[in-house]
Amino acid sequence: MSRSPTDRSSWTRRAGFILAAVGSAVGLGNVWRFPFQAGQEGGAVFVLLYLCFVLLIGVPAMLVEFTVGRRTGRGPVGALAEFGGGAWRYLGGLFILIGFLILSYYSVVAGWVLRYVVGSVTGGYAGQSETYFLDIATGFDALAFHAIFMALTVAIVALGVRRGIELAVTVMVPAVVFVVLALVVYAWTLPDAGVAYEYYLSPDFSLLASDWRSIVPAAAGQAFFSLSIGMGVMITFASYLDEERNLLVDTGIIVAIDTAVAFLTGLFVFPILFTAGVGPADPGPGAIFVALAGAFADIPAGSVVGVVFFGMFAIAALSSAISIMEVVVSFGIDEFGAVRRRTAAVTGVAMFLLGTPVALLSSQRQPIFVTLYDTLAAQILLVSGGIVLMILVAWIGADRAMAELRRGIHSPGILPRVWIWLVRIPVIVVLLVTLALAVGDYWSFLTGDFADFLGL
Ligand code: PHE
Repeated sequence: MSRSPTDRSSWTRRAGFILAAVGSAVGLGNVWRFPFQAGQEGGAVFVLLYLCFVLLIGVPAMLVEFTVGRRTGRGPVGALAEFGGGAWRYLGGLFILIGFLILSYYSVVAGWVLRYVVGSVTGGYAGQSETYFLDIATGFDALAFHAIFMALTVAIVALGVRRGIELAVTVMVPAVVFVVLALVVYAWTLPDAGVAYEYYLSPDFSLLASDWRSIVPAAAGQAFFSLSIGMGVMITFASYLDEERNLLVDTGIIVAIDTAVAFLTGLFVFPILFTAGVGPADPGPGAIFVALAGAFADIPAGSVVGVVFFGMFAIAALSSAISIMEVVVSFGIDEFGAVRRRTAAVTGVAMFLLGTPVALLSSQRQPIFVTLYDTLAAQILLVSGGIVLMILVAWIGADRAMAELRRGIHSPGILPRVWIWLVRIPVIVVLLVTLALAVGDYWSFLTGDFADFLGL
């Protein structure tokens, strides 16, 4: 275990930590994945369940990651080894693996976003938003923009947390909030806004009765994915902290911003989708792009709005991608004494290759592959990572975790104890049930759609 003081940088400003955590949380998960999942899983019922998961599981889980990270000053692998000893260290490998898998396809989707920034400038998608998406989402274009996005991520991670992440996020957060609010107002004026709000906001509980086996893991997976928990991102960020700050307050701020951005995104995406005549139940990974581009082509100064929207969306994706790569790279630095720049480059190439099939498949087959990667990552792996952490912290390292939470909270009272007990039983039980459902659901995907895809 060697840690070079120059390679393991710490936060320059007080706000740096919050900004980075928000930057990690807000990304494709809010603008692309959330509406895509909500559309597929029944609309408002999914949204309601997702909100419950965010509050009841997301908040305690994020606190688990923060306390472990700050306590140990190490990334997930080192933190697990230190908190649990011996064999827990190997479980840490899971987190590194998740990072590889997520960033590999995340970068393909983020590449589409970059492509749309260019398309907004050149007017490429005007009047043909559907064919445009089909054109750029696979093949050479997709691969090229996947490469560009990955290269940007590597470049920022190679520079170290200080200079890269903080600057990007300082610009991004206000921009996202502003653009999203403007779009919500615009969408409100659309002809089918009423039906869309109904779908998005008024839960049809009969769906829960019939489809809970897929809605529950989808909502939990979305909560984990969107909050960047379950793979050690928040452990890693908190490991750069040394001050006595109130982690509960920080968690509240991060969760509130992330959830607000997702919720507001739904408020504008669904009216646009409904008005464009895209069925909510079957939006596919490209629907958000098609519908948004269609809307931008339709409104006054649309290309400016398009550039601003896709531009901020790209930055949001980049700050999330950075956080994922940071986990992998700091693992190399902490555990093997690797050099930051070289590790970032090698990691980027490996992730790029893993994502290549997603970029290269034909457009009919691509959605299957997105599901193959994405469902495994969010519903199975992130939830598993979460379970590992919760068990370790709440059952084995509870005293240390509670002591760490108390540091920085003025009068914590019974709060740490309530938190630990919440994690010990209800959170872990719900996550285990979720995982079982997710595995069942994924298995039927593998033996159904995916087997068909392979021609079995
Ligand atoms: N939370 C990010 C998003 O919403 C994605 C992410 C997942 C980042 C897991 C880090 C870890 O886009």
